[in-house]
Amino acid sequence: MLQRIVKPVLLLVLLVLTKCTYATEGMWLPQLLSGLNEKEMKGMGMKITAADIYNINKGSLKDAIVSFGGFCTAEVISEQGLLLTNHHCGYDAIQKHSSLQNNFLENGFWAKSAVEELPNPGLFATFIVRIDDVTKAALQDVKPGMSERERQSAIDKRLNEIKQAARRESWQEVMVKPFYEGNQYFLFVTETYRDVRLVGAPPSAIGKFGSDTDNWVWPRHTGDFSMFRIYAGKDGRPAPYSKDNVPLKPKYALTISLKGLKQNDFTMVLGFPGRTTEYLPSEGVKQTVEVLDAAKVQMRDAALKIMDGYMRKDEQIKIQYAAKYAGTANYWKKWMGEMQGVKQTRGIAKKLQYEDTYRRMMEANPKWKQSYSGILDSLNEYYRQIQPYAQTRDYYSELVKNVEIFTVGDRLINFLNDVHERGEGQYESMRQQFLESMQSFYQNYNASVDHDICASLIDLYAKGVPAPYAGNDFARIWQENNKDGRALADKLYAATSLTSPEKLKAFIQQPYNTVIAQMWSDPATRLVMATRKGFVDNVSKPLADIQANINNLQRTYMQAQMDVMGSKKNFYPDANSTLRVTYGKVDGYNPRDAVHYDFYTYLDGVMEKYIPGDYEFDVPARLIELYKKKDYGRYGVNGRMPVCFIASNHTTGGNSGSPALDAHGRLVGLNFDRTWEGTMSDINFDPSICRNIMVDIRYVLFVIDKYAGCNRLIQEMKII
Ligand code: ARG
Ligand code: GLU
Repeated sequence: MLQRIVKPVLLLVLLVLTKCTYATEGMWLPQLLSGLNEKEMKGMGMKITAADIYNINKGSLKDAIVSFGGFCTAEVISEQGLLLTNHHCGYDAIQKHSSLQNNFLENGFWAKSAVEELPNPGLFATFIVRIDDVTKAALQDVKPGMSERERQSAIDKRLNEIKQAARRESWQEVMVKPFYEGNQYFLFVTETYRDVRLVGAPPSAIGKFGSDTDNWVWPRHTGDFSMFRIYAGKDGRPAPYSKDNVPLKPKYALTISLKGLKQNDFTMVLGFPGRTTEYLPSEGVKQTVEVLDAAKVQMRDAALKIMDGYMRKDEQIKIQYAAKYAGTANYWKKWMGEMQGVKQTRGIAKKLQYEDTYRRMMEANPKWKQSYSGILDSLNEYYRQIQPYAQTRDYYSELVKNVEIFTVGDRLINFLNDVHERGEGQYESMRQQFLESMQSFYQNYNASVDHDICASLIDLYAKGVPAPYAGNDFARIWQENNKDGRALADKLYAATSLTSPEKLKAFIQQPYNTVIAQMWSDPATRLVMATRKGFVDNVSKPLADIQANINNLQRTYMQAQMDVMGSKKNFYPDANSTLRVTYGKVDGYNPRDAVHYDFYTYLDGVMEKYIPGDYEFDVPARLIELYKKKDYGRYGVNGRMPVCFIASNHTTGGNSGSPALDAHGRLVGLNFDRTWEGTMSDINFDPSICRNIMVDIRYVLFVIDKYAGCNRLIQEMKII
């Protein structure tokens, strides 16, 4: 009897356990995999070893991965330095090479030979040569009781010595970064190549298919890729751009697999994730989603609605504001997903539960109790204290970012300060430069749009920010306008000199002292200065002071968690734009009650979304033709063309362009996004709904080969 009950229950427990015990959460350090993760990775299906991923004695996977311009990831996919990254990572470069006659964004670009590959000044690719733990040396002068500032300068002094002493070749560079909130320090020897040329990009109708509507969304159908090539000096070392440079012979190039993946297959993503905050206390999580995200979303909501209204009516405004709209919408959407995801997965309740367990275990051990008692409570308390200041900071930064008259005002103030520093004698020559530098700003500026955004956002700012923090000067302006944003904006935009290059020129054509005197009478500069002054006088200092206390306690709390909870889980450091490995499994998810999402999309889905002539969902004629003929070559599967897939890899911004690798370490896809419901993985990863989105490598190759006919690139890849 007992037996019969116990057995099914046990089975159930086992099932639940095996389903959830593979971690998938975590952005791991590549040099520590053998100790921490290798066993689990193999358990999940990985067929290679940790030493195949990171090895300082011979070429390994990490030698194929670069930080692309410091904002994305790219990978080497041929013995001639060919790089693969996202279309949205190459976007600026593609745009800069575009003109009305040769619009590469619209039509795509394919270099037919090496001579046609286009240089991109400022763009770079950085390899990681070696990673060393330098914690002991870095912290050697740190004493208990030091203030945050004393501690930092003691560390900085040591870091200088450490960097000087690091073993490296003359063409290599060294950097040291803190991990685990400053409990550990790692040194990176790097190699940066600065001659990176554009090789190919699909038209936006493929590379950016679905645009903002589909951004952060699954099911997805975007061919988000572009290609570059690293060039080196004749000796193979980094060299500034020269037409005599040669394609880089890399230490390692990825092999490409056309096999594709099935449900539950192991995947791994290597790349440079930017920033996460996974170890916030419950108050921090609560504040992030309930207060800070909410404030930022509210401000952007208003700004985006106004932009959209104008963009739909006016073709010129649509062009002027397209990039601003996309930039503002990206994180607006991400934060909304984050708010919803934390709620849906009961993220705050789970944190509280975790903190309970931590507290109980910590207090049961006298040594821990002595070192860590009260830390978590103080940390939560500081989060409560910082809340109004942090909220004001976010309202302020959104105001300044979205109301463009603030941009002009700020630049004007900075310019006048520069003149003050260099001497008034320089005024005339500097004025000319300043006016020229403002030209490109005004090209994409429309005063009516800005007027409406200002009217709306000033209202939200005045209501969202407690009066003492906004300050007296702001309060006076607000009173004068009867606390009405529209009235304020009407008066301001009618009278200010900041709304056009001509008016601005006339304004600063006056003698320097007259301009200075009039800064408080022009209504726009007055508003900009009053708001800035309110922030600096009432918020900056307390914000920084409380933040220093938070940083200090957050570091101790990190150490405490690792000590106390270390037997229950492995800890990975928050993302900090350094090379990480994350692994997971191919799997769908249930975003809502009764809704299930599959893990693969196909070209059929592109055609379902197709809206002829639409600026987000148009499809190039040639792609439709290939679809109709089912002309997929070796890239199709059973008469269908795979496009994107999802898995439970833990990624964030900066992982764009990262390779998705299979169990053998072969390239099967290219990471470019996360699903909306799971963007809270930056503060609270939940394997039930957190998924990263990748474009299938077969779609990438199909576009290069069949769509663009760029066979020379396929030739140089190693495909199995
Ligand atoms: N959401 C992706 C990321 O965070 C892609 C952004 C670019 N695409 C876009 N439609 N705005 O960067
Ligand atoms: N699109 C992001 C990037 O540019 C990656 C998406 C994410 O945040 O996970 O890095």
